[in-house]
Amino acid sequence: MKTHPISSIDVTVPMTDGAGPSGHRPPDPTANNVQTFYRRPLIDRLTGRYTVSWETGGHVASIRVHNRLTDLEGFKPGPGSLMRIPRTVRTYLEAKRRPILRDPVPFLVYEAIDHLATLVGPGTSVVELGGGNSTLWFLARGAKVTTVEHSEEWALAIREAAEDRLGPGAAERLTIVVAEGETAIDVLESLAADSVDIALVDCMNAFTWRKAGVEAVLPAVRPGGTLCLDNSDHPNNWAAVTLLGRESRVRFTGYAPMCPVVSQTSFWRKPS
Ligand SMILES: C[S@@+](CC[C@H](N)C(=O)[O-])C[C@H]1O[C@@H](n2cnc3c(N)ncnc32)[C@H](O)[C@@H]1O
Repeated sequence: MKTHPISSIDVTVPMTDGAGPSGHRPPDPTANNVQTFYRRPLIDRLTGRYTVSWETGGHVASIRVHNRLTDLEGFKPGPGSLMRIPRTVRTYLEAKRRPILRDPVPFLVYEAIDHLATLVGPGTSVVELGGGNSTLWFLARGAKVTTVEHSEEWALAIREAAEDRLGPGAAERLTIVVAEGETAIDVLESLAADSVDIALVDCMNAFTWRKAGVEAVLPAVRPGGTLCLDNSDHPNNWAAVTLLGRESRVRFTGYAPMCPVVSQTSFWRKPS
């Protein structure tokens, strides 16, 4: 047990492994009522000062994070990510007009995209929980993609973009299933064991809990295959990170396309 000074109160929390530089490691997995919000909506939104609060062992704890400077664990962006800030701003503005970008790119930390690019090629079997620009990016690299997406409208937009921009060959490599919650979990659990090279868990927690998605898709990932979890610093995903193993992750902290705050994407390789 360690005591960490936090902005609103001091609370003794059981720290789990791998505290970030700020000591913002949360008391996962027992924390509940986790909330993220802007305490002073206008100023905090402008400056990217996020408040995270949670309850554990009868205490309420909270931290405040400068989310334009560090991720929610206090890790800073790498230099490669800093150089991409202009692209973050450009895609942020573009996405307001055109949700599927002219040059689609996954909504992940830039250095994580670089890492993913080394793993994807023609014939790679990909499963995504939460689709979008990433779906088109995988298809453009020749992957065979199964996307589980909660929004019918968004799924249709993805399919149309695949057909219009990448042609029938690519669209044939895409399976989109519209599902959320337990139904989405059932879809993931029905995938053949060891059949997937890459699983990307990037859905909206409000529709399908990412931790449940991770648990459901893991048996389908082949030995030596990869699971990618976006927003692995976010309190909503602490339990998923704990499940996968905080120490064994390959973590990327930085800026992402369309996202003008610092976030985190992590990878786990399934033992061969
Ligand atoms: C984090 S996004 C998934 C992003 C996707 N994996 C990617 O990298 O492009 C999570 C969800 O947000 C929704 N979403 C993302 N962009 C959207 C948009 N421009 N319009 C409507 N829904 C969107 C979709 O339902 C998607 O499953």
